[in-house]
Amino acid sequence: MTGSTSLDHERPAIRTFDKRQLRDVLGSFVTGVTVVTALDAQGQMHGLTANSFSSVSLDPPLVLWSQATSAGSHSAFKDAERFTINILAEHQFDLANHFATRSPDKFSGVDYDLGVDGLPLLRDCSAWLECKVVSRFPGGDHVIFVGSVDCIRQSSRRPLVFGGGQYLVADPHDLGLAPVGTEGAMKSQPHAVRLASRAMLRLARTVDQTLALVAWGNHGPTVIAWQAATTPVAADLPLGLVLPVTSSASGLALAAFLPPEAVDRFVTAELRDNGRQASGEPPLTAESLASVLESVRASHVATRRPGPFYDDRVLANAISVPILSPNGLAVLALTAIGPAEHFDAAADGPCAEALKAAAHEISAALRET
Ligand SMILES: Cc1cc2nc3c(=O)[nH]c(=O)nc-3n(C[C@H](O)[C@H](O)[C@H](O)COP(=O)(O)O)c2cc1C
Repeated sequence: MTGSTSLDHERPAIRTFDKRQLRDVLGSFVTGVTVVTALDAQGQMHGLTANSFSSVSLDPPLVLWSQATSAGSHSAFKDAERFTINILAEHQFDLANHFATRSPDKFSGVDYDLGVDGLPLLRDCSAWLECKVVSRFPGGDHVIFVGSVDCIRQSSRRPLVFGGGQYLVADPHDLGLAPVGTEGAMKSQPHAVRLASRAMLRLARTVDQTLALVAWGNHGPTVIAWQAATTPVAADLPLGLVLPVTSSASGLALAAFLPPEAVDRFVTAELRDNGRQASGEPPLTAESLASVLESVRASHVATRRPGPFYDDRVLANAISVPILSPNGLAVLALTAIGPAEHFDAAADGPCAEALKAAAHEISAALRET
């Protein structure tokens, strides 16, 4: 780097910026989102959304956050001896907005438990830190609170993210590479997509179910094409829809024919979440999943019935078959999805047979190229 001409910005704003410009620049530092809670001298609960939270020290364990002196709850926080940091989860953007809006009782209608010192811990967060205030520093129009961490808790929920003035979601960087473990399948993919798209047009008429073409992306099974049936399974058929690995037919069809390094990180997270969900079904375990994948490898068909589709409004059944690269890795999954009440997703029914025949033909064509 020469350091002279390659700077990717206009002339620096030396003390000529206004508040909005400063806020915009600060917004490019992406953060998580917390709700900080405390009790006032009367034992009344207070809470506000804050992204100024930061870790300070591991040993001793210290964290900080700062509060605007103009905040309605500042008089409560400035004298409080303890605070709790609730690190919000991806789905809690409404809660973030709720705690960012002044109101006399922010906790009514909000689910919470009480932590070790009786401070509210909001339910369903990503993580929690219960802290004792050890220092307060004036910081311009804010006060900086440093807390010593007494108690920590964590869930498997992914954290909510905030940057550039909007809520974001955190996904691992794909580093511009093919998804881990799928390198051997990637070469066949463009040809497979061409062949499968044609097959879907044909199949949509024969089986008259909504068809999806699913690829293994950096975020797991990802729908890359749809072919709607006469009555599509849902009004919206979004491209880029990411499906679960262990509880979608497409996920199972792909996972059965991909190496563990591609699949394991998704499976581990889903099994952990699945264990927590209070559904009627017994939770899927690593052993039961291994036997499901084994049977998919034997039959070349994965089924799922019945399960919520996409926005949870439709209960759908699905059949999925893998399209294989010449070295036997799943390149794509070809999937039929229909409303549970009309579509019997039997692994040996006519729809499964039609899908299998199409996938077999495409896999054979890939071997010849
Ligand atoms: C994403 C986000 C982050 C925020 N971070 C802070 C913060 O770190 N400190 C702060 O004082 N206010 C922050 N706010 C604003 C407060 O949440 C907001 O002013 C709230 O009304 C304060 O509550 P109160 O008036 O009941 O005290 C943030 C708001 C949002 C939406």
